[in-house]
Amino acid sequence: MAVPYDGPKSSICRILLFFIPVTPLFPQLSYFCSAKTNSMLRTHTCGELSLRDVDKKVTLCGWLQRSRDLGGMTFVDLRDRYGITQLVFNMETLPHLCEAARKLGREYVLQVEGVVAERSSKNAKLSTGDIEILVSSFVVLNEAALPPFTIEENTDGGDDLRMKYRYLDIRRAPVREALLLRARVAAAARNYLTREGFVEVETPVLIKSTPEGARDFVVPSRMNQGEFYALPQSPQTFKQLLMVAGMDKYYQIVKCFRDEDLRADRQPEFTQIDCEMSFVTQEDILNTFEGMIRQLFQDVKGVDIGTLPRMTYADAMEHYGNDKPDIRFGMQLKDLGPLVKGKDFKVFDDAELVVAISVKGAAEYTRKQLDELTEWVKRPQLGMTGLVYARYGSDGSMKSSVDKFYGPEELAKWMSHCDAAPGDLVLILAGNEGKTRKAMSELRLEMGDRLGLRDKNTFNCLWVVDFPLLEWSEETARWHAMHHPFTSPKPEDFNLLENDPGKVRANAYDMVINGVEVGGGSIRIHDKTVQQQMFSLLGFSADEAQAQFGFLMNAFEFGAPPHGGIAFGFDRLCSLFGGADSIRDYIAFPKNNSGRDVMIDSPSPISAEQKKELGLH
Ligand code: AMO
Repeated sequence: MAVPYDGPKSSICRILLFFIPVTPLFPQLSYFCSAKTNSMLRTHTCGELSLRDVDKKVTLCGWLQRSRDLGGMTFVDLRDRYGITQLVFNMETLPHLCEAARKLGREYVLQVEGVVAERSSKNAKLSTGDIEILVSSFVVLNEAALPPFTIEENTDGGDDLRMKYRYLDIRRAPVREALLLRARVAAAARNYLTREGFVEVETPVLIKSTPEGARDFVVPSRMNQGEFYALPQSPQTFKQLLMVAGMDKYYQIVKCFRDEDLRADRQPEFTQIDCEMSFVTQEDILNTFEGMIRQLFQDVKGVDIGTLPRMTYADAMEHYGNDKPDIRFGMQLKDLGPLVKGKDFKVFDDAELVVAISVKGAAEYTRKQLDELTEWVKRPQLGMTGLVYARYGSDGSMKSSVDKFYGPEELAKWMSHCDAAPGDLVLILAGNEGKTRKAMSELRLEMGDRLGLRDKNTFNCLWVVDFPLLEWSEETARWHAMHHPFTSPKPEDFNLLENDPGKVRANAYDMVINGVEVGGGSIRIHDKTVQQQMFSLLGFSADEAQAQFGFLMNAFEFGAPPHGGIAFGFDRLCSLFGGADSIRDYIAFPKNNSGRDVMIDSPSPISAEQKKELGLH
């Protein structure tokens, strides 16, 4: 099939002839097989040839990543989804071909024919690093404009540029590998869930706006002017309706939409592995989905994560300062209040909470380092007024930044309470309960980072259970559902609903891996009266509840089974498996921090005509 190259223009004519009969026969390759392709355009991929193939005549297709002209020889790296193969053009034996190869630009699409040869200088970093192709002919399948950034493992392209040309970015190995990993995780999840008897059911994307949770993205309706659909924040109510419908074990790998402020682990449109089961207890759900995560780690990472520990929400808050504890390291929060109050140190005396951590081996921190840490906790994000520290010298000496108020005996008590040993540094924050706990939780994570205790290849998973059912919002002066309004209170806390709703615990659970909330769910309310009571607690009038969620409460009148479920943040799971902080690279076409898709330039204005049609003025 390959023809000698004699200039881009004539080759394009040839390509046309060449494509017409071939394209319809092009086989669909499965996602991540090491494709032995039967395509007539290529005999092999750029990632599979090795010493076993020496002397074989092969045809490869791909993009020109880079070329090096060494006078007598021109070397070209040809890239496709599977890898890179080195091509060699020999000036001595095929001068015309070599001359033509020198004119090829980066990212040209080529078809090359040649013979596999052993390389004299091998490249251990490449799967094909032992061989090269002695090219006998090639065809330019398409030319390419000069790419706006280097399409190699390490690129000179900044974030914005890479997002604008995402299709070029995906050609780079790290991004491509992230997407392949994503496909592997999805396939492993589907396998597990199918094996366990779950059925994948699609739920609608144009649904109804509801006041709970994050902000909705809304879509105007042309046929019902002045009315709007909402995009689902999750398929929550639909999966519950599927339980009423008797589907029993549902799952869906599904897009969800939330109009909220973005962070590294949040996108306005993201994907969940959404699941629901009927006739189950919380224990059944925890076991089933612990099994799924164990299987995913096994299949994708080859890691056995063992049995997941469980921690109550109350313990997580007390010992780690947040509900998604990173348990790869200790450094637990210790309440110093009872030890430090009443010694005339106003900052501690006036504080709702005085909390400490002991940082291993940090007693020798310099004044400069401690000043820098103090500034770190004073940042507006944390808003602390200062940082108190106490050193436990390796020689057993103890010294604090508040020596004026606390003598050696008191410091010794602090050290013992904080499990500090010689060589450790105790860091203390004081102030308002919520803010101080949160700041200490952040400081703990920061110190964990600085001490290298948060290894991305170590995976510590756990369940956080017994979440409060409700949380009080000062802003709206009412109770909000901590998970969502369909979550069931724990039966043993039912009697508190009326008089002490803040104390009611829910049958709700989160799965946390390395300090990231990767999934959350609950046992649901399946009784109409309880659901009505819940809406009333959340400040809905009976009419409002009926208008917003009547469809669900009506369904509950027709024999709703006891049910519960969970949804995993699929993008978060993938980025964890890939060892990345941001979920962006695990999404083929993500939005930037302002919620924009800079590649297609969206969101964008619509025409006056469209607005009129939609009844928007
Ligand atoms: P929840 O709101 O806790 O529960 O969401 C489930 C999981 O989805 C992930 N997640 C996100 N990932 C990326 N970007 C976002 N903006 C984002 N928001 C959430 C998190 C989270 O743990 N319907 C319930 C589940 C249930 O009760 O079954 C729900 O959506 O990893």
